[in-house]
Amino acid sequence: MCGIIGYSGPLDARKILLDGLAGLEYRGYDSAGIGLCMEDSSICVAKTVGKVKALREYCDASVRGTAHSGIGHTRWATHGGVTQANAHPHRAGRVTLIHNGIIENYHELTKKYHLEDKLVSQTDSEVAAWVLDSLYDGDPLEAIRQLMGLLEGSYGFCILFDDQPGSVYAIRSVSPLVAAYTRSGAMIASDLTALIPYTNQYFVVPEGKIVRLTPYKVHVYDAVEGFPKVYPEIMTVNWNMDAAMKNGYPHYMMKEIHEQPEAMKNTILPRITRGLPDFSDDGIPDQLFSDCSQIHIVACGTAMHAGMVARALMEPILRIPVTVTIASEFRYEEPLIDEKTLVMIISQSGETIDTLAALRLAHEYGSPVLSIVNVKGSTIARESDYVFYTHAGPEIAVASTKAYSVQLAALYMILCRMALVRGKFTDKEAMDFLTDLLDAIPAMENMLAQKEQIRQIVSHIIQSPDAFFIGRGLDYAFSLEGALKLKEISYIHAEAYAAGELKHGTIALISEQVPVIAIATQQHVFSKSISNIREVKARGAFVILLTKESSVVDENLADIRIRIPDLDDRFAVFPIAVALQFIAYYASLGKNLDVDQPRNLAKSVTVE
Ligand code: AGP
Repeated sequence: MCGIIGYSGPLDARKILLDGLAGLEYRGYDSAGIGLCMEDSSICVAKTVGKVKALREYCDASVRGTAHSGIGHTRWATHGGVTQANAHPHRAGRVTLIHNGIIENYHELTKKYHLEDKLVSQTDSEVAAWVLDSLYDGDPLEAIRQLMGLLEGSYGFCILFDDQPGSVYAIRSVSPLVAAYTRSGAMIASDLTALIPYTNQYFVVPEGKIVRLTPYKVHVYDAVEGFPKVYPEIMTVNWNMDAAMKNGYPHYMMKEIHEQPEAMKNTILPRITRGLPDFSDDGIPDQLFSDCSQIHIVACGTAMHAGMVARALMEPILRIPVTVTIASEFRYEEPLIDEKTLVMIISQSGETIDTLAALRLAHEYGSPVLSIVNVKGSTIARESDYVFYTHAGPEIAVASTKAYSVQLAALYMILCRMALVRGKFTDKEAMDFLTDLLDAIPAMENMLAQKEQIRQIVSHIIQSPDAFFIGRGLDYAFSLEGALKLKEISYIHAEAYAAGELKHGTIALISEQVPVIAIATQQHVFSKSISNIREVKARGAFVILLTKESSVVDENLADIRIRIPDLDDRFAVFPIAVALQFIAYYASLGKNLDVDQPRNLAKSVTVE
C-alpha cells in the first residue's frame, strides 16, 4: 500500500507535495519521489530510497527552479525490491506516473507492448507508464481511457504528460483517491491526511472516472465516449490531523481491521491464474513442495498462531508431518530437520530477532526456507531462499490483525499449491479451494458489519480478570489468536484451551460469570464442543459462543451468540478472526487503554 499525491496551483508544488507525502508516510516508507512540472515546462523527477525526509534533503540539495504542479509518491514495495530504480515516479517517454496498487497482468502487457528492453525497474507500475505512453497521441483522456480498458488489478495513478504543463491526471480502481479544490490549489491524494491542512471539503474519486487537476479547477470526466463532465458529491471532513492518519478511524487497529478485505484481495488475486494458484511471479518453484518430506513452521506470537491454523489444515490434506515451533524455542533446540524439510518462516515485520535466528539455524541444517513476510526487503525476506510477500500494507497497531489474515491467506494458497503438486488436489479441487478462500472475503465484510453487536457484549468481559477461549481442532487454533489479542491490549488474563482438555485441570478455574469465548464451527467435533460448553456453563461461566449461522444450538446454551456466515469449515477462521479482533479492541477501549500501543509491547521484537 503506497501513498500518492498530486497538486496544481499557484504555490510551490515541491513543498506541498513533500509535506503531503510526510502525512501519507504511514502508508509506506521504503522509498519516496516527486515529479515536478517546472516553469519552463520541463519535467523534473527526484526520488530516493528511504523515508520522505531523505527525499526532502535530496531536493533541497539538488532541485533548482520553481514548479506549480506535480505528483508525489511514498512506497510500500510490492513488486520489485527497495531500490532507487523501483522508486516512483516512473518516467516512460512522454509520461511520468506514480501508482498505488497491484497490476496483475503486467507480465502480459510487457510482452504485448514489447517493453522488455525499455524497463529500468522491476515494477508493474513502470509497465503501466510505458503502455500509457504507447497509447498517447496528444489526447490524455483518450489514452487514459484505453489504458483503463487494458489493466487488471488495483490502481490509483497520478500522471503528468510532457506536453500538458500545469495539468495532473488521475484515475483509480480499488485503490483509494480523494480530491479537492482547496484555497491552495487543486489536490488529489490516497487519503485525507494530505488534504486536511488545506481544506475540509473533498470528494471521493469515483471508480472509472478521470480526474484532471489544473491550477484553478478540478475536472472530473466520465471515461465514456465524449468524456462528459461529472460532479461528485462534496463531503465535509470533521477529523483532526491525527484522526486523518487513521483515515478517520479512532485507532490504527480499527483501521487495519477494516483493511483486511482489501489486503486479502491484494495478496490472493495476483497469484491466481486460470483459477489455480500461481507463484511464478514469486519465484517459488514447485519442487520445493514436491520434494519435501515434512514441513516445519517457525514464528512468534500471532504469526505462530497462523502457523497453528496451517498445521491443523495441512496435515489432513498433505499427509506429511507439519510441526509448528515457537522461534525462541526452536533456535536453541537441535531440531529434527534436514534438506528434505521445508522450513516455513512467518513474520509480518521480517525483523523479529528470534525468528531470524531460527531461519539461520534452519540453513545450518540444510533446510530450504520459504518465508511469508509483509515488509519487502526486510532481513528475514533477504535471508530466505524463497519469499511469499503478503500485501497488507504497513501495519501500525502493535496488535496484529490484517497481517494475521493475509498470513493465513498465504498459508492456504501454499497448501493449495502443494496439494496440487503432490497429487492431493485435482485441478477442480484446487479451484474450488481457492473459490472458498475468496468467499471468505465477503464473510469478513459481513463480520465487519457486526461490530456494534460485538461491542455490546464486551461489557460482560471487561469486569473479569480472566477469560478463556475454547475450541477443538481448527477452532482451538483460532482461539489461540483470540486469547493473545484480548490479553495484549486489554490486559485481561486470557488463555486458549483445547476444549477437551479443560477437564484435566483448568476447569477448576471456571466459576460464576467467568467469561468463556467458545468457538464451534468444525462439524466433525461440533457435538463434543457443545458438550464442553455445557460443562463450563454448568459451573457458572458466562459463555459467548461463536458458531455458524446455520448451526442449531439450544437457546440456553450460551449467554450470547455471535453468528458467522455459513462457509466451509476450513475457512471459518477468516470471519472468526474479525470477531475476535473486535472483542479485543472493544475490551481495550472499554477499559480506556491505549489500543494501538499497549504497555510493555513493541511492534517488532528486534531484541532477544
Ligand atoms: C501480535 O498481535 C503481536 N504484535 C506479536 O505477537 C507479533 O505477532 C509477534 O511479535 C511476531 O511479529 P512478526 O510477525 O513481525 O515476526
